[in-house]
Amino acid sequence: MNSIKVLIVDDIANTREDIKRLLYFEEDITVVGEAGRGEEALQLTESLRPDVVLMDINMPGMDGIEATALIAERFPETTVVIISIQGEPEYLRKAMTAGARDYLVKPFSSNDLSETIRLAQKRAPRRPAGTAQVAANTKKSAPGKIITFFSSKGGVGKTTLACNLAISLLQETKKKVAIADINLQGGDVAVMLNITPKGTVAELVSEEDYLELSLLDGYLAPHISGIRVLPAPLRPEQAELVTAAQIEGILRHLKENFDFVIVDTAPSFGDITLSALETSDQVLLIATNTLPGLKHVKTDLEVIENLNVTHKVKLVLNQIAPEYGISIADIEKNLKNTPLAILPYDEKNVLSSINKGQPFILTQANSKISQSIGELSRKIASDKTIAIKELGAKKKFFEKLLTLRGESRVPARKA
Ligand SMILES: Nc1ncnc2c1ncn2[C@@H]1O[C@H](COP(=O)(O)OP(=O)(O)OP(=O)(O)O)[C@@H](O)[C@H]1O
Ligand SMILES: [Mg+2]
Repeated sequence: MNSIKVLIVDDIANTREDIKRLLYFEEDITVVGEAGRGEEALQLTESLRPDVVLMDINMPGMDGIEATALIAERFPETTVVIISIQGEPEYLRKAMTAGARDYLVKPFSSNDLSETIRLAQKRAPRRPAGTAQVAANTKKSAPGKIITFFSSKGGVGKTTLACNLAISLLQETKKKVAIADINLQGGDVAVMLNITPKGTVAELVSEEDYLELSLLDGYLAPHISGIRVLPAPLRPEQAELVTAAQIEGILRHLKENFDFVIVDTAPSFGDITLSALETSDQVLLIATNTLPGLKHVKTDLEVIENLNVTHKVKLVLNQIAPEYGISIADIEKNLKNTPLAILPYDEKNVLSSINKGQPFILTQANSKISQSIGELSRKIASDKTIAIKELGAKKKFFEKLLTLRGESRVPARKA
C-alpha cells in the first residue's frame, strides 16, 4: 500500500512532536519531514515531494500563508492543510484563498488529523486564487444542473433522498457533485452525512467576496464519498443573515463549477426556497401516499403551476409500502402526473443509516431503496430534457405567490 507522505511545518518543535505522535499508529500515513519556517517548507517540499503539507500560519520569516501560496503554485500535486489556533478566522480565510485545501483547528484528535490528511490527499490539488488556474481544478465543459428537492410538507424524506441521490449521482457518473443545504433554519444535511461543518452558508455570505470561487471552495466540506457539502447554519437565528439573492448567486456559482448541484430545502414556500425553485433546472417534488401527503402535494402542484415552473417539476413518491396507503394508480389519476420514481418504505435501512450518519447508498448498496435511488440517478443523469429555458418575464416569485394568494391577476395556466 502506498503510504501518504506528510511534511509537518510549525515553528514550535513540541507541536511537531505532538503531531508525529498522533500519526504514529497510522499505517497509511508517513511523516517524511518537518520544517520550522516557511522557506524550509518550500525546500523540503521540493526535495521530498510530500502528498500533504500540514502548515502552521504564524511563523517567523515567511509565514504559512505565503508558503502555502508558493507551494500551491509550484507543486500543485502537493496538498496543503492548515493547522491553526482558534481566533484566526481572517488568516485562515487568507490561507484557504492562497490555495490550502483544508484546515484543522488546534487542538485536534488523532482521528481528526488522519481523516483530514486522507481526505486532503484524495482531493484534487488546488491552485492559488485570483487566477484562471482555480478553475482548472473544477473545470467542466458545460454548466451543471441544479436539482432541488422540495415539498411544503415536512418529513417526507427530502433530506434523506437528497443526500443519497447526490452520492449515487457521483457513483453513476463519476462527475462532480455538490449538495447545498438551504433549509436555513433546520437543515440537517451535515448531520445526515456525519460532517462537522467548519463553516456554513451563514459565515460564507458574511464574507465580502463570498462568490469568489476559491473562498466558496473552502466552505464546501468534503464528504468521504467524494461529494462536497455546503452546510446550513448551525443555529436557526443565523438564517436571517442569508438572503434569497445570495442563495441564488451561490447556486449559480456552484452550477458553473459542478456537474450536479443538489439542493435540499425547507418545507415551505419561503423566499429562499422560491429563489431555489427559480434557479433550478429540475425540481423533484417529494410526496408520500397518505391522504395528508396527497393533499399537500396537490396544493404544491397548484402553486408551482402558478409560479410557471411546472415544466421542470417531476414527482417522486417516497415511503411507499404497496400494502398500505393510497394506490399508485389512484395517485396518478388524482394528480394527473406520472411519478419519475417510486421509492419503497424501508424503516430498517433508512433509520439506521440516518442514526449512524452513514448514507444507505454506501452501506446498504444492495437494498431495494438503494437500487431505486440508483435507478433514479441514472434517469436524471441521462435526462436531456431537463435543460430549462430561462423564464421569460422575470416576475419575482414572491410577488407571484402573493398575487396568487390574493385572488390572482396572473391567470392560472390550465392545461
Ligand atoms: N423511504 C423511506 N423509508 C422509511 N423511512 C423514511 C424513508 N424516507 C425517509 N424516511 C424517514 O422519514 C423521516 C424524515 O426524513 P427527512 O428528514 O429526510 O424528511 P424531510 O422531508 O427532509 O423533512 P423536513 O421537511 O423536516 O426537512 C426520517 O426519520 C427518515 O428516516
Ligand atoms: Mg429535511
